[in-house]
Amino acid sequence: MKQKLIAGNWKMNGSLSANEALVRAVQAGAATGCQVAMCVPSVYLSQVQSLVAGSGIWLGAQDVSAHEQGAYTGEVSAAMLRDIGVRCCIVGHSERRQHHSESDALVAMKAKQALAASITPIVCIGETLAEREAGSTADVVRRQLAAVIHLNGHCISEIVLAYEPVWAIGTGKTASPEQAQQVHALLRAQLRAATVQADRVSIVYGGSMNAANAASLLAQPDIDGGLVGGASLKAADFLSIVAAARS
Ligand code: 13P
Repeated sequence: MKQKLIAGNWKMNGSLSANEALVRAVQAGAATGCQVAMCVPSVYLSQVQSLVAGSGIWLGAQDVSAHEQGAYTGEVSAAMLRDIGVRCCIVGHSERRQHHSESDALVAMKAKQALAASITPIVCIGETLAEREAGSTADVVRRQLAAVIHLNGHCISEIVLAYEPVWAIGTGKTASPEQAQQVHALLRAQLRAATVQADRVSIVYGGSMNAANAASLLAQPDIDGGLVGGASLKAADFLSIVAAARS
């Protein structure tokens, strides 16, 4: 059975001193039996790389350029991320789709760049509240995943997929374990149609995951881990989620 993955998404939070305290506290409490990742702001990647070196914790980025190299001011390439030890990278987070108008096609290109540099893309998909209420959740997530499969077909089993219902992000409203499992199961079916290795793909849940609700979400058959925002900034909360993933 594959290990569960618990990835912290720090978003635009942190400072040199706060990062060091957080990483050291997580390292002191984390044990084997679950893969832990920390997706940190790009300016802190080098710092966190030194802190996690040799610990087994994956260093993660929050975004990557859709281009390989060249005249793209302000962007960071997958090769650069790999160069400083990045192991996984969030792509297509709903905050980037919303605030930076990232399209399904662009997200697929970012996943492709990550894969080409041997970085595991954590591909985020999920519906808005309006889309859920309109009954189009399945259509939306299938469309978002289809774009990634279309461009990355032959290596699709190398991705991590994160189902993050937009209405559950930072709101304290979590999808119920049954709601999340329902979507994860249909995503698994879509992956099965694309690859014989679909069961290798970790499909993680994100959206107000916390110490209290992690165990019931992680008990679902198609929920292979979590992408954790707010609770990843507090070592005790993050470690409780990691512990739930190990049991
Ligand atoms: P919260 O856990 O703060 O809801 O954020 C989830 C998220 O967006 C992780 O990528």
